[in-house]
Amino acid sequence: MISASLIVDRNFAIADIDRRIFGTFVEHMGRCVYGGIFEPGHPTADAHGFRGDVMELVRELGPTIVRYPGGNFLSGYNWEDGVGPVDERPRRLDLAWFSTETNRFGTNEFIDWCRAAGVEPMFGVNFGTRGIDEARRFVEYCNHPGGTQLSDLRRAHGYEQPHDIKFWCLGNEMDGPWQIGGKTAQEYGRLAHEAAKVMHWVDPSIELAACGSSHRDMPTFASWEYEVLDHCFDDVDFISLHTYFTNPHDATEEYLGNIEMLDTYIKDVVAICDAVAAKRRSPKRIMLSLDEWNVWYKARSHLDLRKPGWPQAPKLIEEVYNAEDALLVGGALMVLLNNADRVKCACIAQLVNVIGPIMTETGGAAWRQTIFHPFALTARYGHGRVLRAIADGPAYTAKTVPEVPYLTATVVEDEASGRVTIFALNRHLTEPMELTVDLFGLGDGRRVEEALELHHPNLKVANTKEAPHTVSPKPLAGVAIAGERVSVQLKPASWNMIVTSR
Ligand code: AHR
Repeated sequence: MISASLIVDRNFAIADIDRRIFGTFVEHMGRCVYGGIFEPGHPTADAHGFRGDVMELVRELGPTIVRYPGGNFLSGYNWEDGVGPVDERPRRLDLAWFSTETNRFGTNEFIDWCRAAGVEPMFGVNFGTRGIDEARRFVEYCNHPGGTQLSDLRRAHGYEQPHDIKFWCLGNEMDGPWQIGGKTAQEYGRLAHEAAKVMHWVDPSIELAACGSSHRDMPTFASWEYEVLDHCFDDVDFISLHTYFTNPHDATEEYLGNIEMLDTYIKDVVAICDAVAAKRRSPKRIMLSLDEWNVWYKARSHLDLRKPGWPQAPKLIEEVYNAEDALLVGGALMVLLNNADRVKCACIAQLVNVIGPIMTETGGAAWRQTIFHPFALTARYGHGRVLRAIADGPAYTAKTVPEVPYLTATVVEDEASGRVTIFALNRHLTEPMELTVDLFGLGDGRRVEEALELHHPNLKVANTKEAPHTVSPKPLAGVAIAGERVSVQLKPASWNMIVTSR
């Protein structure tokens, strides 16, 4: 048995939670759109062809904002191909994923889907093969009320009211040599500045995210962010971060230790943003959009990334998540919450089939992958503000991180509902953890409204179509509250959530 403690005081908060940190991502890739959210002819499909079973799971997952249409796909995409009469839309080679894109699904279908799912759309503009002109035209098509050729085109397509898309990404992973039309930081920074300027002239209300590095191990990491922001600091609100966790040595302790690396990555990028601000003597603070993050390491082979023969909606990177992947995702969400002062948007990538929390069979069933659960529960109770939690307890040493506390935790107070929710991960693989949480100033007389744990003795086990509930939350027994102190014993290798209310 190990022991750990957390102390919070309601006078000390990190920040209010921007609910856009519970975002996700839909790319025209593999079976994310076709066979994922959209499958006309599926027994549960509605009149639009949206899969009803997937829609139900999306509502349960609870994302707030959804990034679209890519990803790498974005850098070769013509948005005009995906609007207007479906029968007239061109079939194109998608050079990002070596597939055939039919364009049966495009901007307006995605907006319809977002409205039905109750989520906010987040769009990207193509900075690979296109640039300023496409960006201003696309914003005009989507957001201008009417009376111009492009806004009237949208109306002619059946959308009288503007889509009012607020959040726009200026390209995708433009630092990556794999990107169609990849750029140097100087080329990209200049382009981002000029495009942002005209996009704002079309619609001053939009928020813009510049591309940061594709991941922290990119050789240009840090200098890329600095140089890009040096060009477009005044024009953008966000810089993006992307990260995919891997487990190359199949070493669980090392793997779960990588959660700390996300915290380091975030703090590094914050420091760079603030360095650019300091150079300008600017009080402006650029916020972070972690607009692609997840676990992705099993489905990484050449054949996972591309199938021969230019197929339509092939099976690509259909990662099957196990119990330890769910622990990692749960821990990463705690890091996002604990950086709520600067991380104002984040998208788990992607939503369905393609490294997704939801998996489907074309023409058949849909089920929750293991990582679905920590996301859904954190999104459900991640309202209000994050309290500053001081943790104490034993740690271990990992190769990449010198000190990894066995406990990762975050505490959220929702003044509106009176709830205080504790999320805690025990990273010890064999020892249970005796945890005490002092909630100073949050009042006596709290009760446990709900307490759940996510734990499976076999960390390699996954949810499948045949056994979809193998890894799912179970009641967490033995939570005690005495005065302002919560005590509980956490199982080894477990993710836990304790919701208290008055
Ligand atoms: O999410 C899969 C791919 O990963 C995205 O298209 C790209 O942006 C990233 O490299």
